[in-house]
Amino acid sequence: MEQLKQRILEEATVLSSDVLKLDALLNQQVDPQLMMKMGQEFANLYREEGITRVVTVESSGIPVAFATALELGVPLVFARRKKTLLADPDALVERVPSFTKGIVTDIMLSKQFVTENDRILFIDDIIANGDAARGLVKIIQRSGATLVGVGIVIEKCFQNGANTIREQGIRLDSLVKIASLEGGNITFG
Ligand code: G4P
Ligand code: NA
Ligand code: NA
Repeated sequence: MEQLKQRILEEATVLSSDVLKLDALLNQQVDPQLMMKMGQEFANLYREEGITRVVTVESSGIPVAFATALELGVPLVFARRKKTLLADPDALVERVPSFTKGIVTDIMLSKQFVTENDRILFIDDIIANGDAARGLVKIIQRSGATLVGVGIVIEKCFQNGANTIREQGIRLDSLVKIASLEGGNITFG
């Protein structure tokens, strides 16, 4: 997505050889029109797939997942992150480490919102090592729903998260691939 590459070059900053600061585009501020365009891109890729729900994980995946769900005319479901959980028989839970935060969190989704009749499109903002994404994939699989595909705004190709998901035979599409952040430069893949 050419427009998104331009915006990344203008508004993102390289924090280190593996982390891109995206506060202006994804993590603290979003441009609603740009979000809608990303949603249209994902919706166009999955329009014929009979998607019944779009699923993401709070928080930064929500705007683009919302735009995708609006475009496909289906509900958006967002998994919650919880530090402590009351034992809830209706919750599907996976424990995942977080790359940027250096902590472990529980990702939780109520069984009510992902059922065996669902065809799910999982949307997220960034994929790095993919721990959070693999956790959500497991939750969707345990729910009995069909995971049709995964749509990611920014895939950091030099980390292996996206490929670990593709290796499971799951379709994964990203809008922009970043091959390297070495030397403070953003190199697209
Ligand atoms: P993931 O690849 O499945 O996202 O899992 P990983 O454990 O690798 O990354 C965990 C968190 O770190 C995610 O945010 C992810 O978006 C964020 N992250 C990874 N690499 C980068 C990066 O280069 N830049 C930025 N800005 N974020 C990165 P999260 O914990 O889900 O938090 P939230 O932003 O959704 O609240
Ligand atoms: Na994030
Ligand atoms: Na995220």
